[in-house]
Amino acid sequence: MLDMNRIPASIAIIMDGNGRWAKKRFLPRVAGHNAGMLAMKEIIKTSSTLGVKHLTVYAFSTENWKRSDEEVSGIFKLLVKYVDSELEELNANNVRVRILGDYSVIPEEARNRIEKSLAATASNTGLQFNIALNYGSRAEIVRAVNRINEDIREGVLGEDTEITEELLSRYLYTGDENGNIPDPDLIIRTSGEERLSNFLLWQSAYSEFVFTDVLWPDFTPEEFKKTIEVYQNRDRRFGGRK
Ligand code: FPP
Repeated sequence: MLDMNRIPASIAIIMDGNGRWAKKRFLPRVAGHNAGMLAMKEIIKTSSTLGVKHLTVYAFSTENWKRSDEEVSGIFKLLVKYVDSELEELNANNVRVRILGDYSVIPEEARNRIEKSLAATASNTGLQFNIALNYGSRAEIVRAVNRINEDIREGVLGEDTEITEELLSRYLYTGDENGNIPDPDLIIRTSGEERLSNFLLWQSAYSEFVFTDVLWPDFTPEEFKKTIEVYQNRDRRFGGRK
């Protein structure tokens, strides 16, 4: 049974397996992403209901540009479709949207919907839904170092600033610019792959990982609750002893 008093505050998900889901059905890969989007909608709703504070999803990595033009443009078209059909519902559920990654380079129509959803949900205080878009964790860390360097040069930070873990954290995408998203308590990856693929490398230092064979489009709210139960049965010690 799910313990409602111990729902993880911050959950991150690698939504993997859309392509295989489509292949099994002799459908184009984009149909798998469409089904993945529908699964994502349900997980957002369930996260709100359970009282999760932060849900962070890996929607598009810096490496995903290597895919065919058809697939890449299909994913961004889905993003447009998603925002157009869901923005009202997100607002009704008090969900705030935020973006991790450099979305300045994505197709204009998608960028426009991102900006619209950021503005429209900015004052919402419920679930924070963080979309990692054109995101890569190594690039994020390098960017943070460069931003610190720039702030020292420009006098925003003192010349003798000591670089600490806390300072570096603030300059990551999960830092100040997105309201300091807490490190994920739980990271879920679907489809049987067991790796991080350049997602939240710094932030996952003490995260619990749950891997499931379920392909992302088949990841229902019931499966989601089961993975939270697995998390609740883990023993988190953060390097210390009980
Ligand atoms: C991984 O499956 C999935 C992706 C790279 C894209 C995820 C996108 C969505 C769920 C669409 C909706 C997103 C938004 C933000 C509206 P894969 O294609 O790597 O699957 P495979 O490993 O089976 O080929």
